[in-house]
Amino acid sequence: MDNNKLSKARRDKKDEFYTQYHDIEKEISAYVEFNPKVFKGKTILLPCDDPEWSNFTKYFAQNFQRYEIKKLISTSFAVESKSYKEGYQPTLFERNDPNYNKKKTRINGKIFTLTKDKSGDGKIDVNDLEWDYLKGDGDFRSKEINKLKDEADIIITNPPYSLWREFFKFLIDAKKSFVIISNKSSVTYKEVFPFIKANRVWSGKTDWSGGMWFETKYPDDYDKVINGIKMKNTPSLWLTNIGHGKRHKELQLMTMQENLKFSKHKEIQGKKGYFKYLNYNAIEVPFTDAIPKDYPGQMGVPITFLDKYNPSQFEIIGNGQTMADELGIKPVGQKFVDDYYNQGNKGQINEKWNNLVYYDGKKACVPYQRIIIKHKKI
Ligand SMILES: C[S@@+](CC[C@H](N)C(=O)[O-])C[C@H]1O[C@@H](n2cnc3c(N)ncnc32)[C@H](O)[C@@H]1O
Repeated sequence: MDNNKLSKARRDKKDEFYTQYHDIEKEISAYVEFNPKVFKGKTILLPCDDPEWSNFTKYFAQNFQRYEIKKLISTSFAVESKSYKEGYQPTLFERNDPNYNKKKTRINGKIFTLTKDKSGDGKIDVNDLEWDYLKGDGDFRSKEINKLKDEADIIITNPPYSLWREFFKFLIDAKKSFVIISNKSSVTYKEVFPFIKANRVWSGKTDWSGGMWFETKYPDDYDKVINGIKMKNTPSLWLTNIGHGKRHKELQLMTMQENLKFSKHKEIQGKKGYFKYLNYNAIEVPFTDAIPKDYPGQMGVPITFLDKYNPSQFEIIGNGQTMADELGIKPVGQKFVDDYYNQGNKGQINEKWNNLVYYDGKKACVPYQRIIIKHKKI
């Protein structure tokens, strides 16, 4: 799904996309590899989940003992409060439980907790989950869920796309450790980017390329079917404030001269030099792997740089689009506007527009959103 489709999903309040077990495992095990005690003695809250069959609940319940977790709390959102209610059936597990309530199953959220070996089989796992109906519908904005947030040390989920910004605020206000899934463009939101720049939030371990596949509940909105399950691909990534090894890996780069000679990108190879922005003192670097390792000044790089960002190697100066005033990016001027439109381009730029632009020798160019960075050690 491209970004337009994702924005449409947000407008349509399409939130019923469920994360695959192996995606959770791949991401979470990176935190454990980096710090084997990361979950030891911790209370983990999984909000906006669906505990009966969510893979987040399953994954943490199955690894409860191995990770030495103190308490797992997982909550779901009531079907009657969801924008998409089709196909809901209480599970056999719920219907066979003396606690089952025909009305509550539709209008109340549920809470599952795991703390001890309830079944007495000598291990703590998914069979030891205890459940109840929540008093309310499980909305993460409710007092009830906020109280659970206060109890938790770590919050982990794939939140509803339609309320993603609100969910991010819920996390930041909580001042807790977290791991969440988000769409790729979220890293540039004005509510998010300052935290990335300040190294308070960063990309998870999973590579951004290729997007992520989710199980979807929408009968007509899917990209492929695997074993009868409808799957949707969305340009997603993980965001976190928990350490992992990839964040400390140095990006291997060539010098500027080597790039100009050997780069695999036709935009760089054989050129005389990197283009300089017309209205800001930095060079345009259209690919992360083309960052020259010996350039001491500021560089504009694609957003996907954040997937490879190591805070000991680079400093983030700002976002060329949303922080143009703060950075002091100058207006593009009338000549650039005329040249741009005379080339046959369409758009809405005017001479006062202060977005990064450059001339590639002949043409007036407006790059896609750029982040301004600088090497730390040179
Ligand atoms: C993207 S899905 C992810 C579900 C699950 N965490 C997973 O990754 O498999 C988001 C879930 O949040 C639920 N949801 C929507 N609005 C909510 C709200 N205001 N509060 C809590 N959950 C909500 C949706 O019904 C959906 O089950």
